[in-house]
Amino acid sequence: MLTFDILTLFPAMFVGPTTESILKRAQQADLIALRLHNIRDWATDRHHTADDAPYGGGAGMVMKAAPLAAAIRATVGDDAPPVILLSPDGETFTQAIAHELAQAERVVLVCGHYEGLDERVREALITRELSIGDYVLTGGELAAMVVLDAVARLVPGVIDAASTAEESHSDGLLEYPHYTRPAVWEDRPVPPVLVSGHHGEVAKWRRRERLRRTLARRPDLLARAHTEGQLTRDDLVYLADLGWMST
Ligand code: ADE
Repeated sequence: MLTFDILTLFPAMFVGPTTESILKRAQQADLIALRLHNIRDWATDRHHTADDAPYGGGAGMVMKAAPLAAAIRATVGDDAPPVILLSPDGETFTQAIAHELAQAERVVLVCGHYEGLDERVREALITRELSIGDYVLTGGELAAMVVLDAVARLVPGVIDAASTAEESHSDGLLEYPHYTRPAVWEDRPVPPVLVSGHHGEVAKWRRRERLRRTLARRPDLLARAHTEGQLTRDDLVYLADLGWMST
């Protein structure tokens, strides 16, 4: 079981994404556990203040060190799980990082808000920072949900293992296209090989579609897959036919 501890000022934002569909079922099956902690509960003043104006002046508010640090310390305990801050300054979250986190027993996700958090908490308690892309959200909550969702579906048993084997980014290539009935829709037939019943031919066609699509849409991924030794001799012959020049 993989436990996610999520520290946030807005726990109600997690209702919906974590209470429906696959994440709901994964919790019911005890494959993952989700614990939401409200950082404000660790603020000791009468108004439970969690933010304050920045030293040096400027726009926005900063999350205060003491309540956030107390929340993190109370959550972390003795087993030293990774303490991950969601922040646009972090390392870009990828499928490889999702696989890495899915191996952990526990992951602590800290959602930054306002202009950010007091830098001293970062230095003292955060072990890793992740960004979900080069854009700025109103807070780390949506980013934490993205990470949670991508990691949870890789925990064994959460979804059918076959669905994660050949999906986009699993081995550096994009996914092949999918079709379901009817065989012809608005004059568009399904590729004949898929209804041929030849499993070997289907597998070969799917592999080629993955290569073709990755070349067309994400040549950067193809170059990386090649460097990492993920492409077979057949792959390279096919890609050369498509005009790809490996470096
Ligand atoms: N908080 C605000 N923007 C973010 C982003 N792009 N990724 C992660 N956390 C964020």
